[in-house]
Amino acid sequence: MKITDDIKYLGVNDHEIDLFEGQYVVENGMAYNSYAVIDDKIAVFDTVDAKFTDEWLKNIKDELGERKPDYLIVQHMEPDHSANIANFMNTYPDAKIAASAKAFVMMKQFFGTDFQDRRIEVADGSTLSLGRHEFTFIAAPMVHWPEVIVTYDSCDKVLFSADGFGKFGALDVNEDWACEARRYYFGIVGKYGTQVQNLLKKAAELDISIICPLHGPVLKDNLNYYLGLYNTWSSYEPESEGVMIAYTSVYGGTKKAVMQLAEKLRENGCPKVTVNDLARCDMPEAVEDAFRYNKLVLATTTYNADIFPFMRTFIDALLERNYQKRTIAFIENGTWAPTAGRIMKSMLEKAKNIHYAENEVHIKSALNEESEREIDALAEELCREYK
Ligand code: FEO
Repeated sequence: MKITDDIKYLGVNDHEIDLFEGQYVVENGMAYNSYAVIDDKIAVFDTVDAKFTDEWLKNIKDELGERKPDYLIVQHMEPDHSANIANFMNTYPDAKIAASAKAFVMMKQFFGTDFQDRRIEVADGSTLSLGRHEFTFIAAPMVHWPEVIVTYDSCDKVLFSADGFGKFGALDVNEDWACEARRYYFGIVGKYGTQVQNLLKKAAELDISIICPLHGPVLKDNLNYYLGLYNTWSSYEPESEGVMIAYTSVYGGTKKAVMQLAEKLRENGCPKVTVNDLARCDMPEAVEDAFRYNKLVLATTTYNADIFPFMRTFIDALLERNYQKRTIAFIENGTWAPTAGRIMKSMLEKAKNIHYAENEVHIKSALNEESEREIDALAEELCREYK
């Protein structure tokens, strides 16, 4: 597949995968992207997952014919991209690796060698010329590991962006970019908003026509759309007005309250209401929704003098990703010693710039007139600005 006259796609689609990075369900599979830049010299960008050695090496050969790569650029050492470094170096004994100092340390850990006599150590601002194509390497630590570099090709105005701007999903499946890019971003990179912001600042100084990430499609048109979403996500600003209700319910009492609140929110003009049952939904999808909307309602039961386990997992996942700048409200349920509201609130003390709704809903076993009034009051409060 041709990206520009000189840049070819060498990646593979993975439809066998059950869990990406050991935890993310990817119904439409995953793509591990790899690229060749063909000039007086030839560079290959990143390898692919261990399951695809033969297919990837064949892709290189099919694209290059009799020519051989001079460089392997290793932007990221996570095994979905690095697993075939040793195989590549054995196949092309004259090739050199360009990577950051930290990447070479990791190569030694993964492969038992850091390719001492075949390495070009690069750092932020280093350059490498293939002829017409001159690469500038840009350090992008923690996007999403510490060794990451991204690469700018000034000839074709291409940013090779490593995991940045990636998404779940193989490339032979048509699906909306933002939905799976957002779930990918908040799942995998969400903790590192500051570092993504740093990278975006560096990218803003470049004239970019094409973004070539290591997952998901090559981005060519309307780049401001993708850059804008990355700016919103990495600055932890809400993307859309709306209320996300995350709940757990053991016997249906809490669920009934949640459904009642959702209905009232819609009646009161809330532009978007989305409801996630944390025991049954895809947790990364719920995390993504919590970051997408500006208001979050947490509804759970008291359980073993704590909160229901799926809610604890969910709040931990938000905190791990620096959840902030949102309005949060609580619904608690408990039959003899309700503690859920207090515990959820104490967990969220670590989160910055949170506005807590004045109204809370307290259920003792089942809804009654009082708790229904609390639901009405909470719906009113959360929709005040939509009146
Ligand atoms: Fe796609 Fe962080 O590896």
